[in-house]
Amino acid sequence: MANATDHLWMHFTRMASYSAGEVPTIVRGEGAYVWDAQGRRYLDGLAGLFVVNAGHGRTELAEAAAKQAGELAYFPLWSYAHPKAIELAERIAALTPGDLNRIFFTTGGSEAVEAAWKLARAYFKRTGKPNKYKVISRYIAYHGTSMGALSITGLPGIKSDFEPLVPGAIKVPNTNFYRAPEHGDDPEAFGRWAADEIGRAIEREGPDTVAAVFLEPVQNSGGCFPPPPGYFERVREICDAYDVLLVSDEVICSWGRLGEYFGAVRYGYQPDIITTAKGITSGYAPLGAMIASDRLMEPFLTETGMFAHGVTFGGHPVSCAVALANLEVFAREDLVGHVRANEDAFRATLEKLYDLPIVGDVRGDGYFYGIELVKDKTTRETFTEAESERLLRGFLSTALFQAGLYCRADDRGDPVIQLAPPLIAEQQHFDEIEQILRTVLTEAWTKL
Ligand SMILES: Cc1ncc(COP(=O)(O)O)c(C=O)c1O
Repeated sequence: MANATDHLWMHFTRMASYSAGEVPTIVRGEGAYVWDAQGRRYLDGLAGLFVVNAGHGRTELAEAAAKQAGELAYFPLWSYAHPKAIELAERIAALTPGDLNRIFFTTGGSEAVEAAWKLARAYFKRTGKPNKYKVISRYIAYHGTSMGALSITGLPGIKSDFEPLVPGAIKVPNTNFYRAPEHGDDPEAFGRWAADEIGRAIEREGPDTVAAVFLEPVQNSGGCFPPPPGYFERVREICDAYDVLLVSDEVICSWGRLGEYFGAVRYGYQPDIITTAKGITSGYAPLGAMIASDRLMEPFLTETGMFAHGVTFGGHPVSCAVALANLEVFAREDLVGHVRANEDAFRATLEKLYDLPIVGDVRGDGYFYGIELVKDKTTRETFTEAESERLLRGFLSTALFQAGLYCRADDRGDPVIQLAPPLIAEQQHFDEIEQILRTVLTEAWTKL
């Protein structure tokens, strides 16, 4: 086999960092584990990339794909339908909260976010508010990499090379309670303040210009910020007051990740649009979706009306067949209930790590956690840029992997280790994660 660096251009990868070393090459998966080309086993602490929710090695999902490809490999959803897309749309509509009944399939998350922004703009153009085009999202939030989705993303480091981006993407504070400058001792007051920041941004920009607010149920980037109590309730009120659409970006947070099919259900709010992808097929084929309320489709139901948007592979028959088989597995094994039953144990196991001096905060919900690393627990002092580089990029990522745990050491916000194992994970896996983290983080502390 050719060297991985000869022709393959890996995503978000410092290619030069592999000039001397070997690229980790994963060849097989089973359950919560994957194996590399040398036969070494790793616990998949990130479900690939928040994707493989049902776990690896499910031959029934592979068989569903093969069967569909044999029957009808491809047909577009452009003025035509195929049975698996019809069936899957119906199935999804039955699981979504409220009247989120209209399913627009894409191939992934960025496309779903892109479609949601386009729908918000087109909807207001057709309902007499043509100047409503702007979107609000949170600092450090990741919403994808296509130009629209990247504009909504709040990470300057992955945007600057591509400026100027799409105009009208406004940023507001995120819900990082651990580092909250305001109301740092009162989660409810903090939640109210953070939600009201959205209202203030709408006022500043002009309510007639703002179309939508994009929020993840638990913000991933920056290290798993769950919403403070009352946050989404207040955001919903603000969106209603200003006629702004609430988009719940659940590319990670749906399909059981938070112990419900949808994160909005977990936190009890009603979005106007849900964007999803990843776990919808558990990664056995690529698929995403923008799920809109009945109200948002209405203006497009006139005789000549049309949402002028589409992608060739959106709602690919093979992907839809796999998603249906995946949801069968979810129902049969009650994977969502399994997360609810085990999430406290997962949290409790990770919280054992608080006895390490480097562990500042353990936060998240369901099977979705971030562990923030600090230089000083009492003052919450974080690492300098150079220390972060040395610790996360230079040591932790590799050391954790070598110790048998695939997860993510991320410093796009403050330095965190992120965990999102397949939803089949149970106590033995939590223990293994905790033990590997304990060993490697203890060593990391000595390297500072
Ligand atoms: C919240 C959120 N939105 C959008 C995306 C983009 O999805 P994709 O990589 O499938 O385009 C991601 C990817 O991680 C995400 O986490």
